[in-house]
Amino acid sequence: MTDRPVVLVTGASRGIGAAAARRLLARGCQVAIVARTREGIAAFAAETAGTEMLLPLTGDVAREPDCRQVVADTVGRFGRLDALINNAGILGPVARLADADPSAWQYNLAVNLLGPFYLARAAIPHLRSTRGRIVNVSSGAAVKAIEGWSAYCVAKAGVTHLTRLLAAEEPDITTVALRPGVVDTAMQTMIRAEGPRVMTPERTAYFAQLKEAGKLLDPAIPAAKLAWLALYAPSALSGQFLDYDDPRIGDEVDAS
Ligand SMILES: NC(=O)c1ccc[n+]([C@@H]2O[C@H](COP(=O)([O-])OP(=O)(O)OC[C@H]3O[C@@H](n4cnc5c(N)ncnc54)[C@H](OP(=O)(O)O)[C@@H]3O)[C@@H](O)[C@H]2O)c1
Repeated sequence: MTDRPVVLVTGASRGIGAAAARRLLARGCQVAIVARTREGIAAFAAETAGTEMLLPLTGDVAREPDCRQVVADTVGRFGRLDALINNAGILGPVARLADADPSAWQYNLAVNLLGPFYLARAAIPHLRSTRGRIVNVSSGAAVKAIEGWSAYCVAKAGVTHLTRLLAAEEPDITTVALRPGVVDTAMQTMIRAEGPRVMTPERTAYFAQLKEAGKLLDPAIPAAKLAWLALYAPSALSGQFLDYDDPRIGDEVDAS
């Protein structure tokens, strides 16, 4: 075991989470990654050629026992926990509220809101002792009512407020929420594919032109901000909902 920072990143098999895990590993951190799909996690692990700095885990953050287990596995392997990045997220159901399937709505809240609660709850005793950090990946959807995304918008508003509650209750832990921008990942592919059924023509055109004009962010951009916040966010930022380009966030991380 080393004293290099230990960071647990959920939803790290692809997209923003994978980019954040890559950044943290490249800068000398010990990183546990979690996603539901074994193949995605195995592909990431293969990329890093069996480094001892990586702990690949499978689990569904919608399930409380899985959340307890991944925190226990991380601390069991590395001996401590310095930061939790609650990044795992799903968009669907993409449906108008009147037509949305209640069980799909419920699962969305379980992944996007209850998961961060379960993980924070399991991580708090460890993060108190390291005076660590929780970074919750939120969204502009937390403050905008986007037609067809009701569960996602409500869950992201919830996780943003959960951030404020954690800041109020846990003074030894710095907790922030990040709005990562509009990022070129599988989630944006799904928005372009499924959104037009339920979004206004204006919103459909907005998302389509961001892709066509090459204006979607590379996942490495918000990932660098997540990595910096996980390692260095000052306590003065605790409870804040930050845009990825907020000048208070740096992007250079070095734990070596
Ligand atoms: N892309 C954007 O423009 C954008 C904008 C604002 C906010 N965000 C937020 O950024 C975060 C990352 O999104 P992304 O765009 O990188 O999405 P993505 O490419 O779809 O990746 C999502 C990741 O989360 C994992 N995941 C999903 N549900 C999970 C669950 N129940 N338990 C464990 N892992 C789970 C996925 O792996 P498995 O499927 O194998 O589980 C995958 O690794 C999300 O919280 C999203 O809401 C994204």
